[in-house]
Amino acid sequence: MSEITEERGLLEVRNLHIKFDISKPFIHRLLNRAEKTYVHAVRGIDFSIRRGETFSLVGESGCGKSTVARLLSGLYQPTDGDISYQGTVLAEASREQRQYIRRRCQMIFQDPFASLNPRWKVDRIIAEPLVLFGMIKNREEGRQRVGQLLEQVGLAASDMDKFPHEFSGGQRQRISIARALAGEPEFLICDEPTSALDVSVQAQVLNLMKDLQDELGLTYLFISHDMSVVSHFSDRVGIMYLGRLVEVGTVEEVFNRPRHPYTRMLMDAIPSMDVIHKERTPVTGEVPNPISPPSGCAFHPRCAFATDKCKQSTPAALDISATQQVACHYPLSVS
Ligand SMILES: Nc1ncnc2c1ncn2[C@@H]1O[C@H](COP(=O)(O)OP(=O)(O)OP(=O)(O)O)[C@@H](O)[C@H]1O
Ligand SMILES: [Mg+2]
Repeated sequence: MSEITEERGLLEVRNLHIKFDISKPFIHRLLNRAEKTYVHAVRGIDFSIRRGETFSLVGESGCGKSTVARLLSGLYQPTDGDISYQGTVLAEASREQRQYIRRRCQMIFQDPFASLNPRWKVDRIIAEPLVLFGMIKNREEGRQRVGQLLEQVGLAASDMDKFPHEFSGGQRQRISIARALAGEPEFLICDEPTSALDVSVQAQVLNLMKDLQDELGLTYLFISHDMSVVSHFSDRVGIMYLGRLVEVGTVEEVFNRPRHPYTRMLMDAIPSMDVIHKERTPVTGEVPNPISPPSGCAFHPRCAFATDKCKQSTPAALDISATQQVACHYPLSVS
């Protein structure tokens, strides 16, 4: 693997696109003279993630967050654009490089029950990546390593002889984390890792993830609907709208000085505990159908400041500061 240069970031995403073909079967299209139908779920995204930081993606349902996560973890192939990891473009990586990246980048999913094989004992679930990556010599060594990993995530080594259904939701997510840690990763993609959990358990799992980050120097791509979690957990945030990044900045910039009207709308909807009588403005309107997104800036039908220019041309990303970028023809001034 090439030497990492911090400016280049651990992970770099350039002009990433994916189109899903959701056409009806050929014969149906022929009879109805229908064209092929595509969902352009990710429409030209650029960002980079530095080693050791937590970069979060937020946005309403259907804007493409999970699709970006799946592209980064190699579950989907991009239609266009590049993803590079430590300077190696994924599409051009050799077999060894791919194997290395597969081990070093792991994903944690929303539903820990669906992502753990119910017929396997925890021992086998966690040992699978150890075997796959040739990290253990024999079964005894495997059990020892599984015990260590379980203890690292706050479970007991003896839990390895149980099945996933014998655990609570929070404990199951801990098992998923232990499995993700088995290959000694450096980059974890976490798609709503605590959304399926009870609020009290969410905090424990998030604290565990933070501790592991400090201990192991992990880098996170974090996806969540919960803005308060995002503000506590992240260093930088990217706001997505209909397959595009409309704003990127540090937590402080995005939460305190949002420059895109969509970011402002999301921020105004956050209930505040500090300001007792703060007016909370609910999010208005709905995300348009991604099969036929609005022209120009896709947010224009919901934007109070939209002009003809916004309907006609897609805004490019503007630098507001060294760390904040906004894709808007008329960025908001700081209030
Ligand atoms: N495999 C697929 N085939 C066809 N369309 C897909 C596929 N995966 C995602 N999409 C479409 O891509 C768009 C983005 O979906 P995605 O799941 O990435 O959204 P999301 O931001 O993660 O939403 P949520 O917050 O609800 O999880 C949606 O319109 C979805 O229907
Ligand atoms: Mg999702």
